[in-house]
Formats: sequence, C-alpha cells, structure tokens
Amino acid sequence: MCGIVGYAGDKKAQPILVDCLKRLEYRGYDSAGLAVVNDGVQVYKSEGEITALETGMPSMEGTVGIAHTRWATQGKPTAENAHPLQGCGGKVAVVHNGIISNFMELKESLTSEGHEFSSETDTEVFAHLVEAEYEDGDLLEAVRRALKRVDGTYAFAVVARGRDEVVAARNESPLVIGLGDGENFLASDVTALLKYTNRMVHVMDGEVVRLTKDSVSIVNAEGAPVVRAPERIAWSLEDAEKGGYPHFMLKEIFEQPAAIHDSLLGRIGTVEGDESFLDDSSFSSVKIVACGTSYNAGLVGKYIIEELAGIPATVQISSEYRYSAAARENPLVVLVTQSGETLDTIAAAREARKRGNHTVAIVNVTGSAITREVDHVIYTRAGPEIGVAATKTFVTQLIALYLLAIELGSKSRTLTAQARRSVVGQLRNLPRAVQDVLNQAETIEAIADKYRDARDMFFIGRNIHYPIAMEAALKTKEISYIHGEGYPAGELKHGPLALLSKDTPVVAIVSRDHTYEKMIGNISEVSARSSPVVAVANDDDTEIGKFADEIIYLRRIPSLFSPVPVIVALQLWAYYLAKARGCPIDKPRNIAKTVTVE
Ligand code: M6R
Repeated sequence: MCGIVGYAGDKKAQPILVDCLKRLEYRGYDSAGLAVVNDGVQVYKSEGEITALETGMPSMEGTVGIAHTRWATQGKPTAENAHPLQGCGGKVAVVHNGIISNFMELKESLTSEGHEFSSETDTEVFAHLVEAEYEDGDLLEAVRRALKRVDGTYAFAVVARGRDEVVAARNESPLVIGLGDGENFLASDVTALLKYTNRMVHVMDGEVVRLTKDSVSIVNAEGAPVVRAPERIAWSLEDAEKGGYPHFMLKEIFEQPAAIHDSLLGRIGTVEGDESFLDDSSFSSVKIVACGTSYNAGLVGKYIIEELAGIPATVQISSEYRYSAAARENPLVVLVTQSGETLDTIAAAREARKRGNHTVAIVNVTGSAITREVDHVIYTRAGPEIGVAATKTFVTQLIALYLLAIELGSKSRTLTAQARRSVVGQLRNLPRAVQDVLNQAETIEAIADKYRDARDMFFIGRNIHYPIAMEAALKTKEISYIHGEGYPAGELKHGPLALLSKDTPVVAIVSRDHTYEKMIGNISEVSARSSPVVAVANDDDTEIGKFADEIIYLRRIPSLFSPVPVIVALQLWAYYLAKARGCPIDKPRNIAKTVTVE
C-alpha cells in the first residue's frame, strides 16, 4: 500500500511531484522518492516521511517524472527499498503500489540471466523486466510485454531516459489520470491532483496508459485503444485540505452534520420518489461483509436491518468471509468499504458473486474498484476523508445502512408507511443531534484529559451500542495507542473483569431504554473493582450521577438512531486522548488509510 504520482508537462516536475505526494502521504509514509527525466533518469529517495525527502533533495531539472510514498510490504522501510527502483542499466525507473506475487521466481530467473538486484523489493523485478524489454525504444510496449510475466496487484508508473512520457498500468490498485492544459497527471487518488485539475479519468484493471504533456492514450490488455470520457470531480481542493483545523481527523469529525445531510439528500421523501438500491428481488437474509471500522458499521447495520426490515442479518470480516462455507440460503451481500479499494473486501465481493449472490457496495470513493465488482452501489457522499482514522465515513455508512433497511423493510412490507415516516423524521434530525455533540467538544476534551495516562481502557454497551463500544475502542487504540477493548456490557463478568483495577477506566454507553437497568448493574460491577466510570448518558437521566465518575450527557433520541451521536462523542474522546498524549493523529504508526494487500 503506497501512493504513486506521475507528471508530464512543461513545468518543472519536481515541485509538482512532491506537492502531489504530500496529499497521498496517508497511503504510507515510511519512505519516499521521485525520478525526473533529464539527460538520464535522476532518482532521489530517502527513508522516512516526505519532509525527510525534501531535506537534502537536490534541485532536479526536467518536466516529466514519477514519485512514490511507501508503506512497506516487501523489504524493510529503507532508502534502498524506497521507490523509484531501477534496472541494472539505469535506463528506466519504476514506482509501484501493490504486490508482485511471483517476484521470487522472476528474481531467480532474472538473476540467472545476469541481472543484479540492489533492493529487497518485489518491485525491482519489474524495473529489470521493463528494461530488458525496452531495447526498441517503445516504452509502452516494453511495459505491456513485462506485465505479461507479472502476477499480482499493481499500479505502476514508469519513466525512461530520453522519453518525455510516463507509462502506467493498473491491476487491482487504484490509479487515476488528471487532465490539465499542456500537462497531464497520474495518481493513486484524486485528492492528490485536485489542486491542478478536477477532470479525471479512472484507469481500469488491465489497462496501460501513456501520458505526455499534451496527450493521454489508454490501451486495454489486448492492446486495443480505450476511449473513456473524463469525469468532473466535484470535490474542491479546500474539501481535501484541513480547513483551519489542527488535524484532518478533527475537521472530518466536525464535518459530520453536513456529511449526514448530503448522504440523505434526495434519498428520502415519498416512497415512489426515493432512490432505489436494489432490484425487484426480495431477500430473506442479509450478509454484511467489511473490515475495521466498516465492519463495526456493519455490526450496527445488523441491528438496524433486523429492526426495520425484519430480516436476519449476519456480519463477517471480509478476510474471513472468503474462506467460509457458502450459506444454504441466498442472502443479499452488502460490502461496506469507505475507500472501495480494500482488497480483502474486493475479494469478498468477487466471492459473493461467484456464489451467485446479489451484491451491494456501500462506498465513499466514486469510481473506486469495488463499484465495478457489485450489482448496486450506495455512495456515502462523505467527501474526501484524509485522516487514517475513519470518522465521517463511518457515520455516513450508518446512514446508508438505514436507507438500505428502509428499502428492504418497504419491499418486505415490514415497515408500514407510518413507521417509515417516523424513521425518515429521525434521520432528518440526526445532523442536529450531532451538532449538539460537537458543541460539547470542550467538555469531552476536559474529561478525556483526566485519563490521558491510562494504559488500558474498556468500552461497554448493550444491544445496538455494543458495536459502538467496539468502534470507540478501535478509534482509541488506533490514534492514542491506549489499549482499548469494546465489550457487550453483560460479558465483562465472563472474564475481562479480571483485568479491571483503579487504573483501568471504563467508558459505558448508557441508554434509557430496555437495557438501562442491566447496564446500571454492569456499571456497578465495574465500580466494585475500583475502575473509574465515564458514562455517555441521556440528558434526562437523573440517576446516572450516582453510578459514574464522569458523565457526557447527550440529548435523548430513540436508541435505534443514537449510535450516530454517541460515536461522534467517542470519536472526540479518542481524538482528545491522542492529542493530550502528543500522538501523530492523522498518521498513526503502522497503519495506512487504504489497505490494498490481503
Ligand atoms: O476503506 P475501508 O472502509 O474498506 O477500510 C477498512 C479498514 O481498513 C478501516 O476501516 C480501518 O479500520 C480504519 N482506519 C479505522 O479507523
């Protein structure tokens, strides 16, 4: 998982490449590098973040180049293993996002032909292969021939000595072309290019692209020309930048009222006028498949679908689904992924189709890989999310799941017109409920600050708030590095209570619904072990003060909808813990925004 950039124009390539690379840093940041075509191919790379690359980087002349920011998969994060990589003749330079699965056998065969390797990476084999094929001076053909020997996933970009072009290819790793005037661009993600253009062409699997300053040509795997109209991306550059917040994560948390609003826009009104996400088939069950935060959204979705549509729903981690036995029934399979590029989830989508299931993807990124793998797409419309920790994409995934449940419930006639109206009314109120939480950010910061030194933390909830406890734990561990565990509150007594002490704060989500009495009992169990309790409770709960040490009060709304405001409060909780501990909030160690390896 890495970010790649390419540029061909009449401006100096170096500053443009570095600028675009910075916008891709969320994809990986353990080393970086660039190659610019001038008399030869000038390569500069270094270990560490892009700021480390800039320190000591010589000025490079040339108007064509490629660049890379790396998240190591094959070979340690060192300058030698940083991209671009070259063959032994130094004639070409290659950047790559993905994994060449047959690289060991290719490396052996190339070594026996006399090629010498200078890195531990899988990518270097491709540089040697292209160089070996490049004799006739046609770079695109050389890349196509080299690709025939490669198995695996990739977005490659290649430059060659004396050529004013960038050649690129894609298989299962994101790649987009940006069209400018007298200049053209390539990148792993549209956000890298928005400063320069909003006219984009998505490259598809198997395609090879040639980019010069005034032309872009695409051929398919068979070498036939491909014509694809550019899309105009509505995201502004400002959308993709921090907008005055200290971190993208905080900006994205505060964007949630608008994101929910956009997500609902035009989708709920009269039953007849609503956007439909399904064909006419009826489904007797739903299987939700996802990873990480998207999986937690799926867990909440299970409660929503079962409640509104009366259909049983199961949830499975993508990387497990693939290897599980096919169910006897024919469920609707819902793939949830903010990026649309998570390889585990894409593989699951393919498996679902192989099993003959109808598939729906809930996804944020327009035109991302998963959208081509499923029967229907529900876009979450959260806008670009740059912080590695998913926030607004999680909340809008929940919105999409409510919308899907409404459609399923309406189709199965489980949801009466009156019940539907009431659900729609509750959804319309969510932006305001979230804004109320955001208005309490300072209170949440003050409480979080008291627990900044905790090593472990438990999060408990019941029913629909149990997956919210899981998501709060994931957010907390991901960005503050405090070990967090999310549990169904009734489950602590079956083991985890052994870990509680005065140094183990417990965050309890307490809803004034049918779970309330039991939840209070669970909190008492916790207090009896001297653990401090922070309750996220309803503002009309007059009893909770007797049981909790700290309370974050939220306006009471029906439990089916309260996961949305509750998670916003706990996103702020995780954010302020991380801030107090001085953590690199937008780029936590060891993880990346988009995980394109299995
Ligand atoms: O793009 P996806 O939603 O498929 O990503 C899945 C996970 O990698 C992602 O949710 C991850 O857990 C987040 N960084 C958590 O904040």
